[in-house]
Amino acid sequence: MDGPSGSGKSSVSRGVARALGLRYLDTGAMYRAMTWWMLQQGVDLTDPAAVAARAGEPEITCGTDPDGPSIQVGGVDVAGPIREAEVTGAVSVVAAVPEVRARLVQLQREIIGAGDIVVEGRDIGTVVAPDAAVKVYLTASAEARALRRTAELAGTTVEAQQAAMARRDTLDSTRKADPLSMADGAVELDTTPLTLEEVIGEVLSLVKERT
Ligand code: C5P
Repeated sequence: MDGPSGSGKSSVSRGVARALGLRYLDTGAMYRAMTWWMLQQGVDLTDPAAVAARAGEPEITCGTDPDGPSIQVGGVDVAGPIREAEVTGAVSVVAAVPEVRARLVQLQREIIGAGDIVVEGRDIGTVVAPDAAVKVYLTASAEARALRRTAELAGTTVEAQQAAMARRDTLDSTRKADPLSMADGAVELDTTPLTLEEVIGEVLSLVKERT
């Protein structure tokens, strides 16, 4: 499941995993955990070489229960801190560094290799799991995406969210290493006019059709 921020990937992926009794992996949380650790260490994020040099160090572990996905760095639970504004504002810069991607893609493939799973991110259908049985590319209008995010977060406005998301989407889709793009064979689903249940229903039909 790939798509830009706010397209509904997390809610849809977790709903589909629950309905099918599958595991679930949020790869964005892994990039956020890496970013949180770099910030803690005082690494200069504007220097890609400095980020690359430390990318192998943090020990990131990720649970795969769709009802309570967990994320730890060196045994510390970082589920809360990785959603804070400082990490959200910095994550796309860290995720653009090829050494970071190589490290996390390897971890993701190890987790995926353990059996059937719903995986969400930006490069799942293109890079991480190009042989996935079902590939979905979720989209939604910029306004709908900003409205959803604003409802989830305290102390922000739709305009501020729309600007922050546009910045992140531009960084994610124009970077050299594995940019966000629709994979060959992916089905594009525009979630703007649909409820969460409707989107989950569409994905479940696709899974039924293709597996
Ligand atoms: O999905 P989420 O918004 O939590 O992802 C945070 C950031 O992690 C994205 O904006 C992107 O920069 C990066 N990311 C990525 N590849 C993935 C998942 C996330 O580059 N597979």
